[in-house]
Amino acid sequence: MDLDSLRSARIAGTGRYLPEKRLTNQDVEKMVDTNDEWIRQRTGIMERRIAAPEQATSDLAHEAARIAIADAGLEPKDIDQIIVATVTADTVFPSTACRLQFSLGCREIPAFDLGAACSGFIYALAIARTGIAAGSFDNVLVIGAETLSRIVDYEDRGTCILFGDGAGAAVLSVAGDGEPGIIDTHFAADGSGADLMILPGGGSRIPASHEMVNQRLQYIRMEGRSVYRQAISKIVMLVEESLKRCHLTRDDIDLIIPHQMNARIIQSAADRLNIPMEKLFVNIDRYGNTSAATIPIAIDEAKREGRLKKGDLVCLVTFGGGMTWASALLRW
Ligand code: COA
Repeated sequence: MDLDSLRSARIAGTGRYLPEKRLTNQDVEKMVDTNDEWIRQRTGIMERRIAAPEQATSDLAHEAARIAIADAGLEPKDIDQIIVATVTADTVFPSTACRLQFSLGCREIPAFDLGAACSGFIYALAIARTGIAAGSFDNVLVIGAETLSRIVDYEDRGTCILFGDGAGAAVLSVAGDGEPGIIDTHFAADGSGADLMILPGGGSRIPASHEMVNQRLQYIRMEGRSVYRQAISKIVMLVEESLKRCHLTRDDIDLIIPHQMNARIIQSAADRLNIPMEKLFVNIDRYGNTSAATIPIAIDEAKREGRLKKGDLVCLVTFGGGMTWASALLRW
């Protein structure tokens, strides 16, 4: 293959949408046997956002996407492909991406959902990048959007403290000659850990039934301790290997945007990497874990807070259900 003919991709616009309703630790205390101090110490979370009853995932995604498209200086008709990373699609089918194609007023373009749990946004970014590199698309709308409150068991204190709702979006466009952009992406999976974090019911294995609902199988089940340990080592490995592939060192990194799963996981990974916490972006205190949405929400916040400057080396890194993991290295 003629590598010179491959085109680079850059993030041309970003947007985020967080529902207005806040679920604080004090609110959670009223639902399960827990307390604010335990949640803050063990996770760093203080509150999460909860979608209004009439809002589905595509509604959250729509708001974030609208902002991202305008931020890129584009209009919906300029978008060539839509990828929505989510585990909480509006419906099993049609896809959330198809709803968006219509609600945004895009042309008749490829639109599909991607299921890689918390790694979904970086998976989508990696796929979008290849479409741009090959010359198939010029502008790809990449979204991470979740309404996890619909699949969280508010009787299970091991999980309900963690998750929230939200959406983030990015428009990936062709980078001109010498323009900064995405320089490395990596994504992988290991299905041997599939049952560690799972929504057991409602799929083809255990279809919806009264029995399924009686057993509360329509909600997330998780082995928190095991996920916790694996997450730290995978995040460390992803950052180190990404730097190695690009012949860079940890000193070159200006900002790491990690998946917001637990502030202690982020802190431990930073310690093991020997990178100061000032170089890691953390907003889990306000939103909890919004799965595929955490990375694009954080990118948009970091950008609008002035924490991303032109030429900065930024590392996106995530680990989640599947198990799946992914990283991206980019010049801002
Ligand atoms: N409030 C108070 N006590 C709680 C509690 C809560 N919400 N949840 C669990 N506990 C208790 C446990 O019952 C246990 O009590 P015991 O020692 O009497 O048995 C004790 O706290 C320790 O439980 P443990 O599960 O070991 O806690 P932890 O420090 O691992 O924290 C998580 C639990 C879920 C916060 C943590 O494991 C975690 O964040 N894991 C990663 C999950 C994740 O990020 N998933 C998404 C990945 S994309």
